[in-house]
Amino acid sequence: MVENNSAKSVLQVGFLLALTALTGTGVMAFTNYHTKDIIEANQRQVLIRSLTSVLPNVEYDNDLIEDVITVTDQERLGSKSPLSIYRARYKSEPRAAVITSVAPNGYNGPIKIIVGIERDGVISGVRVVDHRETPGLGDAIDAQRSDWILGFTGRSSQNTSTAQWQVKKDGGEFDQFTGATITPRAVVKAVHNSLQYFETHRQELFVVTENADATDHLHHKTLSVTDQK
Ligand SMILES: Cc1cc2nc3c(=O)[nH]c(=O)nc-3n(C[C@H](O)[C@H](O)[C@H](O)COP(=O)(O)O)c2cc1C
Repeated sequence: MVENNSAKSVLQVGFLLALTALTGTGVMAFTNYHTKDIIEANQRQVLIRSLTSVLPNVEYDNDLIEDVITVTDQERLGSKSPLSIYRARYKSEPRAAVITSVAPNGYNGPIKIIVGIERDGVISGVRVVDHRETPGLGDAIDAQRSDWILGFTGRSSQNTSTAQWQVKKDGGEFDQFTGATITPRAVVKAVHNSLQYFETHRQELFVVTENADATDHLHHKTLSVTDQK
């Protein structure tokens, strides 16, 4: 009788343990699933906000995040990894591209930028999206710290010659910062390179890729002509 009772208790404890483990796993799976959704939605919002910030006067009616290609050109875009180019269209007509690129030679490492360029080759806006430049010295490239980055808006190859695409200290048009020339020099070069990439590839950049999976912006289409130098 005593043996019977203790066997029953062992079974009950075992059952309770199994139930607790199952409930825990279920709660974790549920939380993971929903957290992933929330993170993805947030990342999407951040991306939309940055893309919109460099297209202030561009009229478009497409979903920028879905209309994207990936390209590779280390010399012009500053990275050997594929980078995204978003296309803005109005009634299917190309209006602008947002090129993501990298200034590889920042003072403290690579500086990631986005460059909005209208179809006619005029820059609609530039923003730094990631950098590690020194606070109080190089970080004036950040739109939240100064207006310096707004100086690229309206620039093109037509109104700014190659010699002018430099900081003033090097004979160009763009201000350097007090005691910090390396950072703005790197950004000016990266913006100019992005513009030159746009001009070289203007035709292919707006081609609509037919086999595109428009629902999955994480699996970008890859531009087949990656470089034509
Ligand atoms: C601790 C420290 C941090 C610095 N951070 C930056 C920076 O973020 N960006 C920058 O352009 N220069 C920075 N500088 C200054 C550069 O070393 C350099 O003197 C400055 O960019 C001027 O360059 P130039 O001599 O080519 O004109 C920093 C210097 C020190 C000592």
